Amino acid sequence: MAVSIRDVANQAGVSVGTVSNVLNRPESVAAHTVDRVRAAIDALGYVRNDAARQLRAGRSDTVGLVVLDAGNPFFSDLARGAEDAAAERGLSVLLGNSDERPDREDAYLGLFEEQRVRGVLLSPSSERLETAERLRAHGIPVVLVDRSAPGSPFSSVAVDDEHGGYIAARHLLDQGRRRIAFVGGQRSLRQVADRLAGAERAAAETPGARVEHVPTEQLTVLAGREAGAALGARAPRPDAVFAVNDLVALGVMQALVMLGSVRIPEDVALIGYDDIAFAQSAVVPLTSIRQPAHLIGSTALALLDALAADPTRAPETIEFDPELVVRASTGARRESGTDPS
Ligand code: RIB
Repeated sequence: MAVSIRDVANQAGVSVGTVSNVLNRPESVAAHTVDRVRAAIDALGYVRNDAARQLRAGRSDTVGLVVLDAGNPFFSDLARGAEDAAAERGLSVLLGNSDERPDREDAYLGLFEEQRVRGVLLSPSSERLETAERLRAHGIPVVLVDRSAPGSPFSSVAVDDEHGGYIAARHLLDQGRRRIAFVGGQRSLRQVADRLAGAERAAAETPGARVEHVPTEQLTVLAGREAGAALGARAPRPDAVFAVNDLVALGVMQALVMLGSVRIPEDVALIGYDDIAFAQSAVVPLTSIRQPAHLIGSTALALLDALAADPTRAPETIEFDPELVVRASTGARRESGTDPS
């Protein structure tokens, strides 16, 4: 049986209201009374029911965040941005990992709705947004992260991935590469489809250039290694790989380096996407397209808090520019100890 606030009051010989004041406004209570109440709390092992308090107050201090892959440093950086912005506002963030599965995304959205969270940041696993629509209709604001949705009822914060794909392929083409393998993911995921579309647009501008999609089930290092081993064994090989994210790129790099017969970038130029911390420290420092993950998270949290305060606020689409960071994997001069980007 959980210890109640009344049990604490009885133990300390004070009213329930005094215990509540000690918990919420200790400066308004005499020091000796605070000490008596805190001693009773410790003796009984009382833990306040913050969910009930927040429900009574009608406003939760908690925000839900659903990401596609909690194992991807891009999303942990985004989560940290959301957490830092939440802490500035006295809020907390509950993190859920959908693993790119709509059923798990729905389960987390349902859990956050039951918790009556102040709002939800969501990196959608598909184009289906019915469950997010339900939360919004029930008064729980939802801001999409890592997904632009102009014209939709949802505010969003993301990078222009079509442009990001374009500048990645443009960089490879400007290095003289013409047989580009776009490695990773399925076109059903918007980030994959948009980056591939940008790469195809760049290739269409360049005589003799072509982009081949080499799909993978996962967007992980292991998936990149399997795809890289197959590409390395081809004759002729592609002369460039544009990996859908840095994890896949690092897997491709491992496979090609382990082959021992393929040089990066001389034989195969390699570019990733996200510019996670491991990109710079890879055995061949990885060229990448930088996404401001921390800024995406903090901007989305601030937007969500503003929506929670004013539900009539019009939806906003915030897009950041992707940034090309050139390193040795596409030919930047290698200098020991410094990032040539
Ligand atoms: O989850 C797949 C990718 O989409 C991540 O690597 C990151 O690039 C996100 O935008």
